[in-house]
Amino acid sequence: MKISIISASHRINSESKKISDFLKNNLSNLNNNLDIFSLDLAKSLLPLWSPDKKNGEGVWGETWISISKNLASSDGFILVVPEYGGMATPASKNIFLLCGNGEFSHKPGLIVSVSNGNGGAYPIAELRSSSYKNTHIMWIPENIIIRNVEEFNPGSHGRNIPDWLDDRIDYVLNLLLAYASNMKPLRKIINRKDFGNGM
Ligand SMILES: Cc1cc2nc3c(=O)[nH]c(=O)nc-3n(C[C@H](O)[C@H](O)[C@H](O)COP(=O)(O)O)c2cc1C
Repeated sequence: MKISIISASHRINSESKKISDFLKNNLSNLNNNLDIFSLDLAKSLLPLWSPDKKNGEGVWGETWISISKNLASSDGFILVVPEYGGMATPASKNIFLLCGNGEFSHKPGLIVSVSNGNGGAYPIAELRSSSYKNTHIMWIPENIIIRNVEEFNPGSHGRNIPDWLDDRIDYVLNLLLAYASNMKPLRKIINRKDFGNGM
């Protein structure tokens, strides 16, 4: 089984990347046979969607094709998204426009939002309402909000990180894995060709 972890910060060495790495480690501990693909959107430098994507030139050649293949072969996704200006980041919205080839289609996704303060609710509300129509990603009913993210450090969290958060994260990761393995058969019986985009 393959899980992709997408870090949707715009900053190199971001808190979202830090959290993505912790989640990768947790996932491997839960199931050491997992194939995990990590995508840091700050590093990948994918441009905003443009009509040039169709030409397959430059970044839309090998770089994008390799990312797209990795996502397409995944059975589930974790999107780690910081709150910027009370919104999901532009990079997180862009990846949903770029993935127009069924990469996310009918696969479970977990949203993990990040804030260095008390924010983090807005990106979840935004992504749950606007990202699924054409991608057909299926956000699972649980999400994680990591507030005071700079204090997040399993084993020696700062005092603003609640004790129960680590257990909660593992519970939700297990849930994602259960959805990912049990939703596999769905994709065999879904015909995307007639209605590739949602209404
Ligand atoms: C452009 C920008 C806008 C931000 N807006 C918010 C916000 O609306 N709410 C919030 O809780 N934090 C906000 N922050 C602070 C982020 O929560 C904090 O920088 C966090 O570490 C960002 O995650 P990152 O390191 O993965 O980019 C903002 C940060 C940036 C750079």
